[in-house]
Amino acid sequence: MTPLATAHIATQSTPSGVEACAVCHSPGDELSVERVHRVR
Ligand code: HEC
Repeated sequence: MTPLATAHIATQSTPSGVEACAVCHSPGDELSVERVHRVR
């Protein structure tokens, strides 16, 4: 993973461990996990 991706993930999660990823990467969204990652 690139340093930028690592920083991106760190800034989109809280210190208590809550991840805000679904705000932008929700299923079916243009940037969903299925689209930014190759589904195997
Ligand atoms: C505020 C909106 C937003 C949030 C919240 C968000 N992301 Fe993203 N994410 C983006 C955008 C925009 C991109 C760039 C997509 C592109 O370049 O096509 C991206 C790209 C990525 C990528 C691809 C990075 C790369 O090097 O190609 C990954 C992996 C990712 N996000 C994971 C996460 C994870 C995990 C979380 C939660 C911890 C998260 N994102 C939260 C908007 C967001």
